[in-house]
Amino acid sequence: MATVNLTREFDEILPVVVADRRHFHEHPELAFEEYETAAYVAERLRELGVEDIKTGVGGTGVTGLIRGERGDGNVVMLRADMDALPILEENAVDYKSQVDGKMHACGHDAHTAMLLGVARILMQHKAEFKGTVKVLFQPAEEVPPGGAQAMIKDGALENPKVDAAIGLHVAADMPAGQIAWKVGPGSAGSDRFRVVIQGRGGHAARPQAAVDPVVIAAQAILALQTLVARETDPMDSAVVSTTAVIAGDAFNVIPDSAEIRGTVRTISTTAREHMAKRLPEIFTGIAQTMGGSADVTYIQGYPSLQNDAAIVEFVRNAAIELTGEDNVIEGKLGLGGEDFSYFSLEVPSCFFNCGTRNEERDIVWGHHHPRFDVEEEGFVNGMAVMATAAMDYLNAM
Ligand code: NI
Repeated sequence: MATVNLTREFDEILPVVVADRRHFHEHPELAFEEYETAAYVAERLRELGVEDIKTGVGGTGVTGLIRGERGDGNVVMLRADMDALPILEENAVDYKSQVDGKMHACGHDAHTAMLLGVARILMQHKAEFKGTVKVLFQPAEEVPPGGAQAMIKDGALENPKVDAAIGLHVAADMPAGQIAWKVGPGSAGSDRFRVVIQGRGGHAARPQAAVDPVVIAAQAILALQTLVARETDPMDSAVVSTTAVIAGDAFNVIPDSAEIRGTVRTISTTAREHMAKRLPEIFTGIAQTMGGSADVTYIQGYPSLQNDAAIVEFVRNAAIELTGEDNVIEGKLGLGGEDFSYFSLEVPSCFFNCGTRNEERDIVWGHHHPRFDVEEEGFVNGMAVMATAAMDYLNAM
């Protein structure tokens, strides 16, 4: 049972949250450059009376504590990301980005404003929970290695030690008001590769005197697909996509080298480690067999996010109680990347989605699109669920 029904209170403070969100939207800052945003967040937290505010955590990260008055207990961390994207906004709204070529096109402006809203309401309900809420605003979700890892390295999960974490992402494909939860994997491990195949260039009419890197590349690209089709457990999931092939520029010249780039997405750690080992072997093996060589760079991105069943249960119950069964759905697994995953590997976590789509107002464009926007009415449910799940978790521990 939720401690109190917070929906009406979030409704009342929505104008403040919307004003904050629009402020962030007008002043977007890219990954690891969130100086103004972080300063605004810290100032707001001070104004609210949040304790132990730390800035400059893992770059531009900010944390603060809200201590319940019912005594000692666990620590739950609530997370928002603050960075914008290098996109030129195409919306004609009066809160349009004031910085050409930078835009909050993923909704991180909403996440930051919503967490400030959650902090505001939790400060007013300190008498109703035990333990501590740590609010965490992180830099650089969009650019690996990302801000989450940097904040963890800087001690964000210590002093006091965090026992559980909750985060949310607004969703352009879910109607405003809807909440989606998921147990288990919530995003993919997303890695990248860059391979330079070295052959020996020559005349296209005399292939016997050359080592053709284009043919080697072609063989290797097809062989890569067997990593999924023949080497991945059919009950698991993986994607290997070759997204760039760069070689030569003439009709009659065999080039000296070929470059291949692509991405690997996996769900399980087993599949992820297998790919990291086997992809280089395929390239070097095939190149060697055909008389060339391959220089493989394999770049690990974000790991797969793991949602803990027990923490999800607090979120799901809060969502059903506050918004009604019809507004709560089980989310689908996508193969995008999300660096909340680093927190989820450290402490039991739940990352849930909060719908912000509104067809009537043409708020239908996908994340990272120059016309992306959010239906701000959808914030109420997201904030109420986050705050309630946090209090329920702390009181249950
Ligand atoms: Ni995002």
